[in-house]
Amino acid sequence: MPNRPSTALPLLAFLLAAAGAHAQDAAAGGMAFQQCAECHSPGNTDNAGPGLQGVFGRKAGAKDGFTYSPAMKKSPLAWDDKTLDAFLKDPRAVVPGTSMAYGGDDDAKERADLVAYLKTLK
Ligand code: HEC
Repeated sequence: MPNRPSTALPLLAFLLAAAGAHAQDAAAGGMAFQQCAECHSPGNTDNAGPGLQGVFGRKAGAKDGFTYSPAMKKSPLAWDDKTLDAFLKDPRAVVPGTSMAYGGDDDAKERADLVAYLKTLK
C-alpha cells in the first residue's frame, strides 16, 4: 500500500491543527466575552444576568437564585452548541420575551468562539 504514508501525514497535520484551533477559539471567546461581562460573571455570581458557570448543557432559565423572565423560565431549550449559537445571534428570536438586553452577534466565528469559551466555564 504505497499510498499510506502520504495520506496519513496530512490527516495527522489536520488533527493537530484542529486541536490547536479549538484551544484558540476558547481564548478568543474569552476576549469576546468582554461584551457580555457587564451583565454576566463567568462564575457563579449573578449580576444583571445570571452567572454562566456550568451553563453549557444546562436547561435554559434553570440557575438557582436568579430571577429570569417568564419567557426564559418557560423555555424548553437546553444550552448546547446549536441553541447557544442561535440565542447569541438573535436572543429575542430564540426566546421571545427574554429580558436579555443584547441585540445579538452577527459574526458566526465570534459566536463559535463564545460558545467554546462558555464550555470551559465548569
Ligand atoms: C445587558 C445585559 C446582558 C448582556 C450584555 C448579555 N446578557 Fe446574557 N443574559 C442577560 C439576562 C438578564 C439574562 C436572563 C434573560 C431572561 O431571563 O430572559 C441572560 C441570559 C443569558 C443566557 C441564558 C442563561 C441561563 O441560565 O439560561 C446565556 C447563555 C447568556 N445570557 C449569554 C450571554 C453572552 C454569551 C453574552 C455576550 C455575547 C450575553 N449573554 C450578553 C443579560 C445580558
